[in-house]
Formats: sequence, structure tokens, C-alpha cells
Amino acid sequence: FDTGVLAGKTVYITAGPTREPLDPVRYISNHSSGKMGYALAEAAVDAGARVRLISGPVNLPAPARMERVLVETAEDMLEASLEGIDGCDIFIAAAAVADYRPTAVAEHKIKKGAEEIMELHLVKNPDIVATVAGRPDKPFTVGFAAETRDLVDYARGKLERKNLDLVVANDVSAPGIGFNSNENAVTLVSRDSELSLPQTSKRQLASQLIRHIAERYTQTR
Ligand code: PMT
Repeated sequence: FDTGVLAGKTVYITAGPTREPLDPVRYISNHSSGKMGYALAEAAVDAGARVRLISGPVNLPAPARMERVLVETAEDMLEASLEGIDGCDIFIAAAAVADYRPTAVAEHKIKKGAEEIMELHLVKNPDIVATVAGRPDKPFTVGFAAETRDLVDYARGKLERKNLDLVVANDVSAPGIGFNSNENAVTLVSRDSELSLPQTSKRQLASQLIRHIAERYTQTR
């Protein structure tokens, strides 16, 4: 039997970017590689958890020992996140979800016209982690905050606004960490504490984060 700190627990993790189509050949997305979310999924499995990894399009192989659900858009990611959510103990949102999507997807490839300026109309996507944290019987919910300034202030804002239990704040303007790098450095923000975890590989950091998350989760139950 498994004696890990998350033995018997079900953990959902979102990872990677979302892709919001404009037409059959174009989309809006971002530079998330999925490395942070995938490392967290591995660390959660190592800690004994049953893991559902909900992943946007990334260039990472399907990890063993867990269920992976591949999605494209934020709306797809929300749907996959809510499936079976009643059985989820801990929800970790490491994905870089597009905040907006094109209001309409053109049926055919958009043609280049004579005009120099083209305007895109965007509509807000659903907020996945806030939707999960807004449920009456919500899992212990952990969000990320990707910020380029005022890291902890903005992270605390997200903690409150989205009703999260913990926020993992990363400074995505610092070179060598954040989007698409192999390393990261974060500050863990809760209602009553702040803890800095210095720069290290996303693998190492993921193990530390899972330990802290498991500890906090246990305190709340
Ligand atoms: O994938 P990598 O290349 O390894 O990079 C890792 C990372 C930098 C993407 C990751 O560490 C990270 O910070 N992920 C969150 C990125 C982000 O979109 O942050 P945000 O501050 O915009 O969003 C705040 C939180 O709300 C996040 O938990 C996000 O998953 C969630 N969110 C945001 C919008 C939305 N519509 N739904 C959400 O669930």
C-alpha cells in the first residue's frame, strides 16, 4: 500500500496553454510549455495521489501512472476540470488559460484584405479555477499567479477574488524562470502567510510545492 502524504487523495492539475481559434488555421495562445504542471503531476503521483492531468497543447510526452486529458480551448479545459469534480480533493491550476477568445471562429481561413489595420473582437473566457473554487463543496484549491510586477500584492488579490486556498506566485518577467524555462522561483501566498521558494528546477520545486500543499490541505480537513 501507499504511504505517501497524498495516499488515497484525488488531485486535478491543469497545465500548459489554451488555444483559442480564430479560423481553421490560426489561434491565440501563449508561451506556456506545460513543464510546471507536468512536474506537479509527477510529484503528486510520487506522493501517492490519483492524478488527472488536464493539459492544453504541449510538446511533452504523456506521463505514466496518471490520467491525462488533452484539451485545446479554455471552455474545453473547464469542461474537463468539472468532470468528476465531486471526487476531487485538491485542484491545482498551473495552466496559462487565455483570458479572452475570439467572439466568433471563422468557418474558412480569413483572407488578407486591402485594409492596413484589422480589428479582433474578443470575449472573456470562463475562469476555471474560480469556477472550481466557487463550488459549495470545493476541493482545496491552489491557483498560480503569473505577474510581471507587484508579485505578492496581485497574488493576494487573486487569492481573495477567486476564493483560493493558496496561490503560487511567479515573477514571469525574471529571466530563466516562469514560462517555458526549466527552472522556476515562487512565493507561496496564503491568507496568513508568505513563503519564498528559491530558484530551482521545476521538478524540485514541484516536490516542495506538493509537500506544502499536502501539509496545508491536511490542516484544513
Ligand atoms: O508551462 P510552463 O512553461 O512550465 O510555465 C509555467 C507557468 C508560468 C505557466 C506557471 O507557473 C503559471 O504561472 N501558470 C499560471 C499562468 C497564468 O495564466 O496566470 P494568471 O495570473 O493569468 O492566472 C491566475 C490563475 O487563474 C492561474 O492559476 C490560472 O490557471 C487560472 N485561470 C486564469 C484564467 C482563466 N480563464 N482560468 C483560470 O483557471
